[in-house]
Amino acid sequence: MEIRQLSPADARAYQSLRLLALQESPTAFSASHGDEAGRSIEEVSARLVPAKDGSICMFGVFDQAELAGFLAVVHPQREKLRHCIELAGMYVAPPYRRRGFGGALLKAAIDHCQSVNGVRQIKLGVNATNVAAKALYESVGFESYGVEPDAMHVDGIFYGEEHYILRICSVA
Ligand SMILES: CC(C)(COP(=O)(O)OP(=O)(O)OC[C@H]1O[C@@H](n2cnc3c(N)ncnc32)[C@H](O)[C@@H]1OP(=O)(O)O)[C@@H](O)C(=O)NCCC(=O)NCCS
Repeated sequence: MEIRQLSPADARAYQSLRLLALQESPTAFSASHGDEAGRSIEEVSARLVPAKDGSICMFGVFDQAELAGFLAVVHPQREKLRHCIELAGMYVAPPYRRRGFGGALLKAAIDHCQSVNGVRQIKLGVNATNVAAKALYESVGFESYGVEPDAMHVDGIFYGEEHYILRICSVA
């Protein structure tokens, strides 16, 4: 297993896995398959350029050379919000699940967050019915602090979004 930040060179593998994610786990993401199916490879590549100011980057977990999962790290740069980082859009492809890929990816992202000066807390939102993801986040110390009712509407069903936070020490 290898974990590293994705770059434009990973665009085709990322696009293919992202579209699988949106098709296979539609209630785990706010984007729909239709939102992203038409994106050109140039658009996808542009999304994988790590922001120079660190405001967004995408981590990938690989098995041999195969992309098995991904997780975005979003760091607002505005002065009043710079102490918070958000994790978003986590996915591990079905053949790799329950083999430690998600946990390792999450820990790598948390390590990255802890290395950013001044960061005090990591936030994320998860479909309140997503037992697997909630167990994963809770296993590394995330705590739930509330549920937004009916936050997402997929195929006629409304889902709550559960908000999680992990308080970390500042390295400043
Ligand atoms: C949630 C997800 C990322 C977990 O990835 P994974 O690679 O299977 O996770 P790991 O194997 O590292 O599991 C780590 C821990 O998470 C928890 N966990 C993972 N899958 C679980 C499941 N199906 N049921 C209960 N707990 C689960 C367990 O505590 C597990 O530790 P254990 O295997 O020692 O019991 C993966 O199932 C996935 O991509 N699901 C679809 C998309 C999704 O839900 N994304 C999250 C959006 S917020």
